[in-house]
Amino acid sequence: MAEGKEIRPVKRGLTGTIRIPGDKSISHRSVMFSAIAKGKVRVMNFLEAADCLSTAACMRTLGAGVDRQADGALLVTGVGLHGLKEPQCVLDAGNSGTTLRLLLGISAAQPFFSAFAGDASLSGRPMARVIEPLSRMGAVIKGRAGNRFLPLAVLPREGRLRAMDYESPVASAQVKSAILLAGLYADSGTTLKEPALSRDHTERMLGAFGATLRREGTTVTIEPADELFSPEEIIVPGDISSAAYWLVAASLIEGSDLVLEDVGVNPTRTGILEVLSDMGADITLSNERESGGEALADIRVRAASLHGVSFGGAIIPRLIDEIPILAVAALFAEGDTVISGAAELRVKETDRLKAVTTELNRLAPGAVEATEDGMIIRGDRALSPAVCRTYDDHRMAMSLAVAGAAGEGVTLDAPACINISYPSFFETLDNLVQ
Ligand code: S3P
Repeated sequence: MAEGKEIRPVKRGLTGTIRIPGDKSISHRSVMFSAIAKGKVRVMNFLEAADCLSTAACMRTLGAGVDRQADGALLVTGVGLHGLKEPQCVLDAGNSGTTLRLLLGISAAQPFFSAFAGDASLSGRPMARVIEPLSRMGAVIKGRAGNRFLPLAVLPREGRLRAMDYESPVASAQVKSAILLAGLYADSGTTLKEPALSRDHTERMLGAFGATLRREGTTVTIEPADELFSPEEIIVPGDISSAAYWLVAASLIEGSDLVLEDVGVNPTRTGILEVLSDMGADITLSNERESGGEALADIRVRAASLHGVSFGGAIIPRLIDEIPILAVAALFAEGDTVISGAAELRVKETDRLKAVTTELNRLAPGAVEATEDGMIIRGDRALSPAVCRTYDDHRMAMSLAVAGAAGEGVTLDAPACINISYPSFFETLDNLVQ
């Protein structure tokens, strides 16, 4: 059995300045969109983590050049919108829903066959949410259990896909992106409406590659394109979802004063800053600027005493991946926190509502109650050290590590899953506490 990881209680404040690894969502898109554009793109600060490496490997298998440069940049040599080649092996998306769902949107329009696989977690995650709308556009996708799960096969499509008007039942950037990518290959404009605005990195980046998109509220239309044109360089901002662990750790650990540099603060991702501020966190942004259509800032966070809050509704997609770490913040806050409208957490890398509830209750018995679509967290309970399960879910592992560091310690049964999005997480924690 792989070794567990012990996280000791941190008794001294976290101070200094740290850089956050590149944004996972933007890294995926930078390699994928560069691969289907004409020309070469240098991607700076690409996230070298397992999920994004799955995307890079798939794009290589489809014929694009993806090469690490001596200076650390990733050089992507695109083959053009119609230049991908039939893969000679199964495309392996690993643990990554973004790799699989976005690539299905591209593969749906190709005149060749492709087959997809992934790990055990991804094989249990719902794919009908992209297969159904793509099928309406004329794609033929076959999969396990009635075309709903991996493994999947995409049959060759001759001619353009059919444009459509689609109302998505879920606020999901992966669903939206799959349809927008297919829309590039459609016979006229494709429109998608989502119930709340999800992250809009696809819209921003496709726009920077010359695609024509219009947005009105939560509705976006994309026009078909003959070709995409590469910007010479993409600079990936730091991932606010990775910064989130330090925002909460520094808020909770007395004496902390930490600066996180060059963090992406796209408004579709900053729900975490709003909720933490509502809880009483001391967070300030400086050096706010824009790069490649994405907002960036340095974020300073100082220790503060937090109190419980209620949140749900339209803010959920803006902090969907931060709910486990927000639950940790709530565990240390005074009073109750009520999270609603977050049923999507049940279909992430694991059922995060169940996993967060079970594991935080090991540290503070009876503190957390799962509801149908959220959690109630009763804060400021007595904590004790415990052995916790990560469920091989990177966000569970890092959230529990922060709970242990700010509390009475924790041992993680399977810590290696942090490599999915933040391979240097434990090293950064070690450096901060030395
Ligand atoms: C992502 C979208 C979100 C998020 C995931 C990354 C993306 O998933 O949870 O980690 O890069 O588009 P959904 O679109 O399924 O909500």
